[in-house]
Amino acid sequence: MATLLLSSHLAAAAYSSTTSASARPAPRFVSFRSTAPKGGRRVLASSVQPSSPPPAPAAAQPFRSMAPSETTVLVTGATGYIGRFVVRELLRRGHPVVAVARSRSGLRGRNGPEEVVADLAPARVVFSDVTDADALLADLSSQGPIHAAVCCLASRGGGVQDSWRVDYRATLHTLQAARGLGAAHFVLLSAVCVQKPLLEFQRAKLKFEDELAAEAARDPSFTYSIVRPTAFFKSLGGQVETVKNGQPYVMFGDGKLCACKPISEEDLAAFIADCIFDEGKANKILPIGGPGKALTPLEQGEMLFRLLGREPKFIKVPIQIMDAVIWVLDGLAKVFPGLEDAAEFGKIGRYYASESMLVLDPETGEYSDEKTPSYGNDTLEQFFERVIREGMAGQELGEQTIF
Ligand SMILES: NC(=O)c1ccc[n+]([C@@H]2O[C@H](COP(=O)([O-])OP(=O)(O)OC[C@H]3O[C@@H](n4cnc5c(N)ncnc54)[C@H](OP(=O)(O)O)[C@@H]3O)[C@@H](O)[C@H]2O)c1
Ligand SMILES: *[C@@H]1O[C@H](CO)[C@@H](O)[C@H](O)[C@H]1NC(C)=O
Repeated sequence: MATLLLSSHLAAAAYSSTTSASARPAPRFVSFRSTAPKGGRRVLASSVQPSSPPPAPAAAQPFRSMAPSETTVLVTGATGYIGRFVVRELLRRGHPVVAVARSRSGLRGRNGPEEVVADLAPARVVFSDVTDADALLADLSSQGPIHAAVCCLASRGGGVQDSWRVDYRATLHTLQAARGLGAAHFVLLSAVCVQKPLLEFQRAKLKFEDELAAEAARDPSFTYSIVRPTAFFKSLGGQVETVKNGQPYVMFGDGKLCACKPISEEDLAAFIADCIFDEGKANKILPIGGPGKALTPLEQGEMLFRLLGREPKFIKVPIQIMDAVIWVLDGLAKVFPGLEDAAEFGKIGRYYASESMLVLDPETGEYSDEKTPSYGNDTLEQFFERVIREGMAGQELGEQTIF
């Protein structure tokens, strides 16, 4: 799942919210079966306390001195916005890649198996169900050895149950399967926003981050990298075409309620690929943004008008509108559990309209541009120029079109 809601995109959508609702409350705590401890296979720690002991320094891991061509990487979430680029980047660096996909993948299942195999070639594509631990283990059993794994899975909607199913459980299944096949390193695509967890998918991700730390503490020959990016370009491009067509740029409050340092798919994929061999990135939580300084919605809007050679024209939506919508949905969801996800989508929207996608400085409690590391070369300005020329193809938002 993509996570950054374009606050102003949501502002525009706030009036015409058509979220679908479903489902019962998700299990908050999930126990899992561990793989059988045969033949030197590892068993995962079965439960994790929030305060896991700090992981021991990485023991010597033979794969780190091997050539990329000898280091096979398992990728789940390989068909997502970031996952596709991760597969491509790993292949470019010479890694053999085993990519897991479902038979219909992409947004709303638009791609069939042949399209996925062609898109990810020459990766080996294994069609399986990451939400089914046994099926995943069985389908991957002939694919070893695996040296490292990258998980780019995310709920495509962000609903309560789906977040636990995908961002926690399916991600855990990836870890179990990868460990069973010998993986000594695990890279997790997380999100910077989990540092202030108010949403279900953030809690699900954090719980899995705890599992990773516990596994590394238990087995010093295992390491992980938790990559927590700021905003993706797709989450910020939602108004390029409407503004190009003469509409004003819509934003919440004064357009300075939040800021982010967006990073492109290619740059993030390169950073993630770096995590495979870079020992400095082992057993670390790695917040990461793109190049340049943090940008508020107001600055993004101004940039867009400048690129279009137009006079800036803004609509400012009071953030209280979001609170009213959430208050109503939350109240209704107490009576009609079917509205649980609608209420959650409202909260997601409110979150991205008002929280910055930047590192929270523990000393000040404020979001900090300076404390958010930069990586890569692609700028939001170049992205806007491209969307002005070519449109938003390939940059579509997830199923609820809120992130
Ligand atoms: N958007 C942002 O600005 C932003 C910022 C920071 C961090 N992030 C984080 O980045 C992560 C990934 O984002 P993304 O935009 O690359 O995600 P995405 O495009 O929505 O891709 C999600 C991936 O997970 C798979 N998946 C989802 N549900 C599944 C299920 N039930 N069974 C099997 N596979 C399933 C999808 O497979 P299919 O193709 O088969 O659906 C796809 O490969 C998220 O964790 C998000 O929190 C996002
Ligand atoms: C950014 O550009 C520099 C100089 O061209 C290059 O060396 C570097 O690899 C690029 N970074 C990424 C992540 O592509």
